[in-house]
Amino acid sequence: MSLTLKIAVIAGDGVGQEVIPQGKRVLAATGAKHGARFDYTDYPWGTDYYLQNGVMAPHDFIDQLRPANAIFLGAVGHPKVPDNVTLNGLLLPIRRAFDQYANIRPAVLYHGVQSPLALRKGEKIDMVVVRENTEGEYAQVGGFLYRDQPEEVAVQTSLFTRRGCERVIRVAFDLARKRNKQKRVASITKSNAQGYSMVLWDRAFAKVAGEYPDIATESLLVDAAAMNFIRRPESFDVVVGSNLFGDILSDLSAIIVGSMGLAPSANIDPSRRFPSMFEPVHGSAPDIAFKGIVNPLATILCAAQMVEHLGLPEAAADIERAVAKVLADGHIRTPDLGGSSTTARVTDAVISAMG
Ligand code: NAD
Ligand code: IPM
Ligand code: MN
Repeated sequence: MSLTLKIAVIAGDGVGQEVIPQGKRVLAATGAKHGARFDYTDYPWGTDYYLQNGVMAPHDFIDQLRPANAIFLGAVGHPKVPDNVTLNGLLLPIRRAFDQYANIRPAVLYHGVQSPLALRKGEKIDMVVVRENTEGEYAQVGGFLYRDQPEEVAVQTSLFTRRGCERVIRVAFDLARKRNKQKRVASITKSNAQGYSMVLWDRAFAKVAGEYPDIATESLLVDAAAMNFIRRPESFDVVVGSNLFGDILSDLSAIIVGSMGLAPSANIDPSRRFPSMFEPVHGSAPDIAFKGIVNPLATILCAAQMVEHLGLPEAAADIERAVAKVLADGHIRTPDLGGSSTTARVTDAVISAMG
């Protein structure tokens, strides 16, 4: 019996157009092996659509996405259009509309990959940043006053709710239990300066931590956390932070394990009322787009996160093993990892490693 999964696909801009087809190739191979069929609906939304239609997507785009089992997204952002227009017109509304409040961003230093850090011999990096994904600094509450005048004012309000903090922190603790590695959660704060929002965050963290006596905790100011990602990266297991802190720290966690091209991300609605969305941490990378050299592995690892979420853990493990094998072999890799292989060649190697 074969399982059919409805996947809404938004390849989007720049390298998004290149990596999504590679993710689909891996899904086809894994589906054939594990008894799943992927029924794709491809949406042409993004900046090209905007340049033709004046909007990033049709007005009912959320309703169009709603019936999908999951959303597979490449990247959004284009040098021709301001980022606040493109991102607020497509990516960010999806995260909010589908209450994808937990953004799961693993960072693993694979065998055969060189970290830019001078690690002690045998030292591992294997952490997950859990990022609050629907409120906080990204709430889009605010406005301009005296627009274009010398006295212009911009107000951008952060929005922190007890419910919003507690629920994402709970995801982090559950994940630390499930991973069963260091069983440790680090909370990222800035309550020394942000005397309301981050104080609520700290209180929510203390309360939820009390429900998980088996999990060790630490609380780090975000500036010190950035420093400690470099100084003692091996000490992190699960890291939980607000929307903006999680955004910034997950570029840092990606690069210390070798490349933005290795960092997947899952925007999860843990209640499963809505489709969750799987997209690499990286953006549209206009500096390398359409040269056939973008690293597809972040997106391929997103495909693994997606099939895991959709109830196919063996398929997910299979993809991850294949990626690890290709990286350990060390011959076939894109230029961001010091190689000279093309995007498609890396995918070929992953598919052949899956056997
Ligand atoms: P970026 O992640 O696109 O690129 C940063 C650097 O990393 C670039 O030098 C790029 O070449 C490199 N890089 C990224 N992904 C790579 C990959 N898979 N393989 C090899 N190298 C890779 O970030 P940016 O340059 O700050 O942003 C470019 C655009 O993307 C902007 O418009 C930004 O708003 C947007 N963006 C979108 C998303 C998203 O859609 N989820 C995420 C981040 C940035
Ligand atoms: C990410 C991106 C987005 C974010 C941008 C493009 C709005 O940087 O997914 O990390 O900040 O969430
Ligand atoms: Mn980011």
